[in-house]
Amino acid sequence: MAFASKRFSIEGYGQTAETIPVMISRNDPCWCGSGQKWKKCHYPQKSGHTTDLAEQYLQQYGIVLKTPKQIDGIRKACTLAAFILDETAKQAKAGVTTDELNTFSHKLHVEAGAIPAPLGYGSPPFPKSICTSLNEEICHGIPNDRPLQEGDILNIDVSCIIDDYFGDCSKMVTIGKIDEEKANVVKTSYDCLMGSIEILKPDVMLYEIGEVIEKIAAERGCSVVHQFVGHGVGLEFHEEPQVPHHHNEVKIPLAAGMTFTIEPMINAGVPTAVIDPKTQWIAYTKDGKPSAQWEHTLLVTETGCEILTPFPE
Ligand code: MF3
Ligand code: CO
Repeated sequence: MAFASKRFSIEGYGQTAETIPVMISRNDPCWCGSGQKWKKCHYPQKSGHTTDLAEQYLQQYGIVLKTPKQIDGIRKACTLAAFILDETAKQAKAGVTTDELNTFSHKLHVEAGAIPAPLGYGSPPFPKSICTSLNEEICHGIPNDRPLQEGDILNIDVSCIIDDYFGDCSKMVTIGKIDEEKANVVKTSYDCLMGSIEILKPDVMLYEIGEVIEKIAAERGCSVVHQFVGHGVGLEFHEEPQVPHHHNEVKIPLAAGMTFTIEPMINAGVPTAVIDPKTQWIAYTKDGKPSAQWEHTLLVTETGCEILTPFPE
């Protein structure tokens, strides 16, 4: 399939939102494109838990509920990702190229003993260490030699691996004075992320995340991208479950120990994403209108949730 990443939504797998399977079969081809069966390839490793609930989530949904030890490792990767993201965002000024941001960010990974998860990821291999998605680019933008200029909005997405654990987050930066349409998508995507985080706790249904995001986006005259989704993360870059940001019917109850991203992509115009045929990565809006995204990695706790990638104030 032409789908380079597991982050393509269930619709990308040829399903409609109404027929979302709660579990992909162990015998299906692995999402990574290896051609091997999922069970032989990226099938989640045994959680290490022996609780009934962990066993049930693994069997029924392919979701690994993380152990306290795994959570510590994931928290460390997430803290580092949030730090690198913040430092990189501070460098984003008019005249600076996204290639320079990539080089800067890559160096911070190396200094921390971490691996940038995007580099070489997927098929074709993602060519850089971070994603930089500019203006009408929705996600998976590739750093290049174009200098940032006044009026740009830019998403920087940092995902890192340390001690085999993964953390993933992204934020928007604005360059100088931006127009109202761009300001609206930047603020709306942030509010969609934070609004959906507020409802997280055990037994909330996964589809409720999309309800909150759609409501906030609609109130502000924006649309929600369907073709890319949030994802489980921690032991792998992209794990079960997929986390749709749009209206959906995924009736998976959240449970303590789940770690996943929410990363709503919010458009000023139509929700449709087009993939650049040349890179097979960069996704941009069909109508050329601006798009914005913020992303956190979250841990569901017994009483609510913890943001594992908090942005420094
Ligand atoms: N947060 C993005 C995601 O989950 C990071 C993409 S990196 C890439 O897909 F290599 F897949 F582009
Ligand atoms: Co992500």
